[in-house]
Amino acid sequence: MIQIKTPREIAAMREGGKILAEILHELAISAHVGMATEELDIKSQALMSKYDVAPSFKGYRGYPASVCVSINEEVVHGIPGKRTLDDGDIIKIDCGIIHKGMHTDSCVAVMIGNVKPEIREFVNTVAKSLENVFKIIKPGVRVGDIGHEIQKCVESRGYSAVHEYTGHGVGKNLHEEPEIPNHGKKGKGPILLPGMVIAVEPIIAMGNRFVYTLKDDWTAVTRDSSPSCQVEHTIAITSSGYEVLTKYHDTTNLVYSQ
Ligand code: MF3
Ligand code: CO
Repeated sequence: MIQIKTPREIAAMREGGKILAEILHELAISAHVGMATEELDIKSQALMSKYDVAPSFKGYRGYPASVCVSINEEVVHGIPGKRTLDDGDIIKIDCGIIHKGMHTDSCVAVMIGNVKPEIREFVNTVAKSLENVFKIIKPGVRVGDIGHEIQKCVESRGYSAVHEYTGHGVGKNLHEEPEIPNHGKKGKGPILLPGMVIAVEPIIAMGNRFVYTLKDDWTAVTRDSSPSCQVEHTIAITSSGYEVLTKYHDTTNLVYSQ
């Protein structure tokens, strides 16, 4: 069932979204060469306590941490640990929080040090694919239109939309209907209506689209070891268009350079 949120629920998600943006910003600017990814998890827990919010991911189907940190060829769901960040890495920091009973979900990409120009171009294109979605999103638009927009943007540059992981509705639960694939056909799929809240998350590989899961049962990696990138925002559909609930102040900037 697709959930239509009440104004009160949207207001709670707007507050939660602002807090989540603040947390992701703090995490992104703290990332540096030599840092172990588990430090980002510890930091996220401290920030969640400071803002009095709870993690959405910890315990979700047994997931052990409050953030996912996926490096280079790791596509999504990287579990924070002892691995340290290297110069030239791209990392994706994905985080969800619960505030007043409502989840919000967002992911930023961080370029660490001297990232190769072709990888920078890739990361910026993935962010652009989400910005392109903002240009079309309003009531009446279909889920397939979103997937089409993302796929068109990334495939025109030779990158690939990963099929196994998708965006989703979000609210009282982290994952609600509808699924929002990163590929699709115009005019297909469920229709967006005012009061729906969706997490749109382009999950893109620089090479081909095939992925597999590591023995930890979570981390997805590209089969061809090509870099992968993900960005994500929680977006409310309004009567006239949309509102990005997880934006950082007035920006929807999803890419950081450290
Ligand atoms: N943003 C991701 C998603 O919507 C992260 C979920 S991590 C998990 O699927 F641990 F909660 F699964
Ligand atoms: Co999500």
